[in-house]
Amino acid sequence: MKIPFLNFEPQHALVKKEMTAAFEEVYAANWFIMGKRLVDFEMAYAHFNGTKFAIGVSNGLDALYLSLKALGIGEGDEVIVPSNTYIATALAVSYTGATPVFAEPDILTYNLSAEQVRKAITLKTKAIMPVHLYGQACEMDELMNLAQSHGLFIVEDNAQAHGATFNGQMTGSFGILNGVSFYPGKNLGALGDAGAITTNNFHLAQKIFSLRNYGSQTKYKNEVIGHNMRLDELQAAFLCVKLKHLEQWTAQRQEIASWYQSELEGTGDLVLPYVHPGATHVFHLYVVRTAYRNELQNYLSDAEIGSLIHYPIPPHLQEAYQGMGFKKGDFPIAEELAATSLSLPLWPGMSRAQVSEVCETIKAYFNEG
Ligand SMILES: Cc1ncc(COP(=O)(O)O)c(C=O)c1O
Repeated sequence: MKIPFLNFEPQHALVKKEMTAAFEEVYAANWFIMGKRLVDFEMAYAHFNGTKFAIGVSNGLDALYLSLKALGIGEGDEVIVPSNTYIATALAVSYTGATPVFAEPDILTYNLSAEQVRKAITLKTKAIMPVHLYGQACEMDELMNLAQSHGLFIVEDNAQAHGATFNGQMTGSFGILNGVSFYPGKNLGALGDAGAITTNNFHLAQKIFSLRNYGSQTKYKNEVIGHNMRLDELQAAFLCVKLKHLEQWTAQRQEIASWYQSELEGTGDLVLPYVHPGATHVFHLYVVRTAYRNELQNYLSDAEIGSLIHYPIPPHLQEAYQGMGFKKGDFPIAEELAATSLSLPLWPGMSRAQVSEVCETIKAYFNEG
């Protein structure tokens, strides 16, 4: 059986009628930017996320950048980011003129820990950006305490963890401003680029409302040098539809992860995802680790099973950041994760038989090897 890495079909089949109606509604309204659907989605997402505000923007990277910019972070400042994140987290810092400072993740959760962040704090540090990687909430209590004791902002990168919690509180509601992505493959995905900033802070929310729209809240009145980083009506309308199904899709992701967990336990040298007792994991990705990663990926590919690597090159070794002068060995945990991680197929609606097929193929690889 051919198994892709990701298959939108079960989700799309479920919402097709509602999505078509949403399209027709926007089409008939003849209003495509900054209208009713955006406000509807912002209210619905804020309600879902347990924050006072959600501000729709163009994508997750812009959400992170605008958050830092609204906090006044810029040249001469440092912002701590995980050494194993997707490059967008670091890019958002670079856009402001500040310097991304990499801190190693915890080897069990793959998330930033207060212990590692503490070592990276200097007099120039202004903010910490925890990334809830693969869908698991970071240990936010310790990170919040650390930030508070050093007078630092927390800006969560919640691109991968819609609906995850730490000690019962949702990711995207801890930081002063937080960025979320609705890139199509995310747990809540638009049919194009989309993102949002979540916050409880009224003044910062007003600032972002303005910054995302040419620095303007009243037409043709520009208070600051802003951007065009808006979320359009069509994507907002699609997101309103899909948001209603998110909890059900998250539950499906978690069930699929539990099937993988029980079937793969004890296979070869596989390291399966570890979930911290205070955290929930919404399994944006199901990532295993093995010293034989490349060989296993090829074996799966020969069996027509898709898999991906998140991420093969950590940000400090990317050409884009070569100017920072890092070399191999500077962040050994991130480099180890980049060398050994493999994301297995997972999508809401994936069947138990498909999961079993993936697991049987992985077991066959280890038995043959
Ligand atoms: C951890 C992380 N941060 C930020 C982003 C940026 O989101 P977007 O692609 O919507 O700009 C992504 C997704 O691509 C991501 O995975």
